[in-house]
Amino acid sequence: MTMSPAIEIKPLAASPATIAALRDMLIEVVAHGGSVSFMHPLRPDDATAFWTQSLAAAARGERTLLGAWDGDVLAGTVTLILDCPPNQPHRAEIAKLMVPLGYRGRGIAAALMGAAESLAVDHHRSLLVLDTAEEDGAAPLYEKIGFTYAGSIPDFALKPHGGLCGTRIYWKRTAATAP
Ligand SMILES: CC(C)(COP(=O)(O)OP(=O)(O)OC[C@H]1O[C@@H](n2cnc3c(N)ncnc32)[C@H](O)[C@@H]1OP(=O)(O)O)[C@@H](O)C(=O)NCCC(=O)NCCS
Repeated sequence: MTMSPAIEIKPLAASPATIAALRDMLIEVVAHGGSVSFMHPLRPDDATAFWTQSLAAAARGERTLLGAWDGDVLAGTVTLILDCPPNQPHRAEIAKLMVPLGYRGRGIAAALMGAAESLAVDHHRSLLVLDTAEEDGAAPLYEKIGFTYAGSIPDFALKPHGGLCGTRIYWKRTAATAP
C-alpha cells in the first residue's frame, strides 16, 4: 500500500489548533470503538486535558507525538514513549496510534509506525513494545510490520461502549544496537 504523497508526518507541538485536532480525532475514534484508554462518550474537556498533558511530556523530552498531516488536516497520530525506567534505557513504547475514519485504509497508520520506529532508532532504542485490544484492535497491522506476538491478558480493559476485552502484547527489535 502506498500512502498519498500529500500526507506529511512530523512531530507535534502544543498549539490550540493541534490540541483541538487531536481532541476531535480522539473523540471520534473512541465513539467508533477504538480501544485507546477512554470510554464513550468522551468529554471534550477530558480529551483536551489528555493531549495537553501528553504534549507537555513531549516538551520535556519524555515522548514524541507524531502527526500525519493532509495540509492543515490532522490525518493520524502515534506516540513514542521514551520515558522508560532506568534499567530499560534501550526500550520505547508505542501508544495512541489512531487514524480518523475518513483517512483509514490509505497506509497512514503503517507510515506513522515506520516514522515512530525510525525515531526510536534515532534515540538508540533497540526494543519497541505495544499492546492492542483483542477485539477491534490493530493486531493484523502490527504483525504485517514485523511485530512479534508475546501473549494475551484476558479481560484487560473495558471497550469504549462497555464489556471487557483482552489485550495482545507485541514487541519488535529495531535497527538500533542493543546494549
Ligand atoms: C488501526 C488504525 C490505526 C489503522 O489505520 P489505517 O491508516 O487505516 O491503517 P493502514 O491503512 O496503514 O493499514 C496498513 C495495513 O494494515 C491493515 N490493517 C490496519 N488496521 C487493521 C485492522 N484493524 N484489522 C486488520 N487489518 C488492519 C490494513 O489492511 C493494511 O494492510 P495492507 O497493507 O495489506 O493493505 C485505525 O483503524 C484506527 O485508528 N483504529 C482505531 C484506534 C486503534 O485501534 N488503534 C490501535 C490502538 S493499539
